[in-house]
Amino acid sequence: MLNIILCGAPGSGKGTQSGYIAEKYGLKHLSTGDVLRAEIAKGSELGKKIDALISEGNLVPDDMMYGVIENYIASLPQDCKGTIFDGYPRTVSQAESLTELLKKYGMEAIMIDLLVDEQLLIQRLIERGKMSGRADDNLNTIRHRIAVYHNQTEPIAHYYLHHGNYCPVNGNHAVEDVFLQIKRIIENYGR
Ligand code: AP5
Repeated sequence: MLNIILCGAPGSGKGTQSGYIAEKYGLKHLSTGDVLRAEIAKGSELGKKIDALISEGNLVPDDMMYGVIENYIASLPQDCKGTIFDGYPRTVSQAESLTELLKKYGMEAIMIDLLVDEQLLIQRLIERGKMSGRADDNLNTIRHRIAVYHNQTEPIAHYYLHHGNYCPVNGNHAVEDVFLQIKRIIENYGR
């Protein structure tokens, strides 16, 4: 089974590359951002709380995210070829939980980290914001999301480096070139 943790700052291309990887390798794609936005769209009480956090560019609490991931992994079909975890984990605590959960089900994962210059991230998200309708795609919130990424998410690179499954990718290039780098990592995995 091939499990991939796709990590990177807001706008680094996690969602875009997940689509390519899922199609090429027949993997499931779990975007925690999409799961949370689906809850907001339901208009539930939980969705309102999530909306307040996401709109400000803040992370949803770890314990809430843990439930999402635990349910997802527990319900994976036997014939699943693997999952792309897009946007999870985002804290060291989430990374530790995911390692434990995967271990419990006899699985492991490689972490692919999309590294993109800050100016490019802002440019991409401002551009997307013209069409996306996402409450967090405006300059102030984008800046805050990037700061949250530096403070809370970036440290997970050290966690995976320490665990020996860290694979950095230069995400500044065109979509196809970034995908080529990812393909090389996947196809060398386990050799
Ligand atoms: P989420 O939806 O995951 O948002 P994000 O991490 O901010 O990432 P984005 O979707 O903005 O960007 P992306 O990296 O997927 O890039 P994309 O491919 O779209 O999470 C939203 C919120 O939910 C979080 O802020 C948090 O509040 C909450 N949340 C989610 N997971 C959580 C967790 N685990 N714990 C706690 N809270 C959580 O590309 C962006 C744009 O750039 C697109 O227009 C695309 O076409 C373009 N583009 C992509 N690649 C390239 C390229 N190589 N060249 C040119 N343009 C490109």
